[in-house]
Amino acid sequence: MQPFTIKYRPKTTKDVLGQDESIKKLKNFVVDYESQKKKAALLYGPTGTGKTIVAHAIAHDLDLEIIEVNASDVRNADQINSLLGSAINQMSLFAKGKLILVDEIDGLSGMKDRGGLLAVIKLLEKSSFPIILTVANPWNQKFSKLKNKAEMIEFSPVDHSEIFKVLKNICEKEKIKYDMDVLKGLSRRTGGDVRSAINDLETLSIEAKELTKESLEETGERNKLDSMINALLKIFKTTDPKISIRAFDNVEEKLDQQFLWLDENLPKEYTNPSDLASAYEKLSKADVFNRRIRRWQHYRFLIYINALITAGISVSKEKKYSKFVQYKPTGRILKLWWAKQKSMKKKAIAEKLALHTHTSKKDALKNTLPYLQVAFKKNKTFQDNLTNELDLSKEEVEWLKK
Ligand SMILES: Nc1ncnc2c1ncn2[C@@H]1O[C@H](COP(=O)(O)OP(=O)(O)OP(=O)(O)O)[C@@H](O)[C@H]1O
Ligand SMILES: [Mg+2]
Repeated sequence: MQPFTIKYRPKTTKDVLGQDESIKKLKNFVVDYESQKKKAALLYGPTGTGKTIVAHAIAHDLDLEIIEVNASDVRNADQINSLLGSAINQMSLFAKGKLILVDEIDGLSGMKDRGGLLAVIKLLEKSSFPIILTVANPWNQKFSKLKNKAEMIEFSPVDHSEIFKVLKNICEKEKIKYDMDVLKGLSRRTGGDVRSAINDLETLSIEAKELTKESLEETGERNKLDSMINALLKIFKTTDPKISIRAFDNVEEKLDQQFLWLDENLPKEYTNPSDLASAYEKLSKADVFNRRIRRWQHYRFLIYINALITAGISVSKEKKYSKFVQYKPTGRILKLWWAKQKSMKKKAIAEKLALHTHTSKKDALKNTLPYLQVAFKKNKTFQDNLTNELDLSKEEVEWLKK
């Protein structure tokens, strides 16, 4: 079974949504390659916006043979030369034109041999075929030389209305029943990343071919939990500071929460006392710095705190622990979360009430709701009537009964 992102990957540029401008630019560049001053096109923009699929779709539309190298699989300059050196000169195997794709050049800079990027630049100067490069973030200094030599083509986050169309199409083909609002919610919340939206849809529809509001809320929480647990894995299970230092890059939770998660789970992972002592020293130092930085408002020092709680903690152990540990949020976090959920329910009920009684939400919250709650608990008929009248959800009814 193929994942949805592969099964529904657009084959032609017509099926790529929300990137018309960039596609037009790139097509012109490829078609008119002979007269271009620049030898390569650099597609840049956030993950999951269609950079890789557009390169393939253009090759398909223009009937070109595509030669693809993923830069993160390449280890040094020699390897790049041997993979691409011959491709840039030879005629195509099938006597078609050729298109060369060097995907994810961010990966090149991480190589021990720093020559990778230079090798690519040299190759593109000699190439007789269009070269397409992709990168998520081109603003790093190390790409400045390349940027002068390449036509820059931006891929913006995809508009949620376009993502909605992609998801709707998949639902129809897969016979997944959906609630309009849920599908809209899914389309909005990945911030323009189509891949994540499709993946969310697939996760949600594994158990039942139906998308409900409840399941949407659940995955929201689950995704957050997932990314935090991945972050902890990176810190705890590696001794390489280069890996661990980026652990919290994609985590939504703020620094305070990161502290709590580390504090809670450190002793479960670092069972050797001297490892534990050394790790806690980093954590407490970071905590002291954190308070000082906030007091003096020297926010640019916050990166040192990140370094301490990620790389600092990961190098605090003698060697990696191979045991499996289930990381958990602290009791404190859970309590805060529950409290917030509860007050959200209360607010939602008050909103419905305000609408029906033509009062303000504040008024409903303060004056009517406390009284209603008592009546609700005591009187079954009242319970049923109000539930119908306000169209209360199961959770809201539960809340009122408490
Ligand atoms: N604009 C789009 N229209 C339709 N589907 C899209 C679009 N962008 C992405 N997708 C879907 O998301 C998947 C990932 O897209 P793609 O690999 O092109 O992203 P990318 O921009 O190269 O991301 P990364 O930077 O992570 O490599 C595709 O297989 C496709 O299913
Ligand atoms: Mg890509």
